Amino acid sequence: MSNLYDIKKIRSDFPQLTIKLKKNPLIYLDSAATTLKPKEVIDKLSDLYLFKTANIHRAAHELSQNLSTDYETARENVANFINAKQNEVIFTKGTTESINFVAQSYAKYFSKGSEIIISSLEHHSNILPWQNIAKEYGLVLKFIKCLPSGELDFNHFTSLISKKTKLLALTICSNALGIINPVKDYINVAKKNKIKILLDAAQSISSNITDVKKLDADFLVFSGHKIFAPTGIGVLWVKENLLETLKPYQVGGGMISSVDKNSYALACAPYRFEAGTPPIVQAISLGHALNYVKNIGLQNIHDYEKSLLTALDEGLSKIDGVKIIGPLKSRVNICSFTVEGVHSSDIGQLLSVQGICVRTGNHCAQPLVVEELGINTGLTRISLSIYNNLEEVVACVDSVKKCLEMLR
Ligand code: ALA
Repeated sequence: MSNLYDIKKIRSDFPQLTIKLKKNPLIYLDSAATTLKPKEVIDKLSDLYLFKTANIHRAAHELSQNLSTDYETARENVANFINAKQNEVIFTKGTTESINFVAQSYAKYFSKGSEIIISSLEHHSNILPWQNIAKEYGLVLKFIKCLPSGELDFNHFTSLISKKTKLLALTICSNALGIINPVKDYINVAKKNKIKILLDAAQSISSNITDVKKLDADFLVFSGHKIFAPTGIGVLWVKENLLETLKPYQVGGGMISSVDKNSYALACAPYRFEAGTPPIVQAISLGHALNYVKNIGLQNIHDYEKSLLTALDEGLSKIDGVKIIGPLKSRVNICSFTVEGVHSSDIGQLLSVQGICVRTGNHCAQPLVVEELGINTGLTRISLSIYNNLEEVVACVDSVKKCLEMLR
């Protein structure tokens, strides 16, 4: 484990780690659902609401001016974090809204019979928006299959491509299994075939370096709440050359250059895509959260989480009947497993009694879990983050062992 990684200090940044559940110290292993929030981010958020409230981009008074500057600084922080240009960063309320936005706005570029490729590893939020427009516009939705290991079948992807393929929407990391896709390989093939690419970075953003220039996709989305920021804030990154062609998903105040009784003219990007009062405090807090991550260092985080995951996999794989889905080499901070004859929700409930929070079930990835992997007991998902330690991993493995003794 890295000596440079100050786990004691990091744990002290997260007050929620001091609470007890049923008299047991909290062991929070559900960070893929949402991460805990560092005190310094919440203190700054609280300061904004207590002393700095105003609306932005709308008034000449000092409070509005200051907050507008903070909001644009947050946009700059996001842009720097993913190596984007500032005008390419659009604030939304989360990954789900970002993907719906692209699906609805980009649909006009598809014609009847156009094909969209997504993968079997997708979260529902990267399936349903495409199902909707496929039905509405007569498009064809194709799924890349998984190999028995749970990893995507790259050859199947290439076999799905046709002259009608217009878009590939792919997750960088599966929220259900933690498998990281070799997205650059997919992007290279898609580019050669003039296919637009949307990357879902919701699960990868907190522990993998995201560089939109290197990736060279067309759209990238993520949520703040999975990277130590509040809920209600997300990002849609759009490559600059597409900004002018993208239709605003919704219209209203703050996104126009002029309006008369019959029509309106749009403001420039990204403002034209942010109708209404935006999630100001949430966006600024996301900026602070990204700075917090940057100070620790994404490579350090990646290496630390991988070392914990390795220990977790080792411990769980020694328990009779536990089957971990997905090879360790392809995962960073998630371990999902099944146990023959045991429903995951029973494991989740017994762990909860011991103060351990994990997620169980289909993880908003029912086509993957049920159809592709044929699992009908749900998955028990243990997800790690920067504040977990080896003691928690050992305690969790021990508790899983005890749970299974009780259940069998
Ligand atoms: N997408 C979140 C998860 O994977 C909610 O749990």
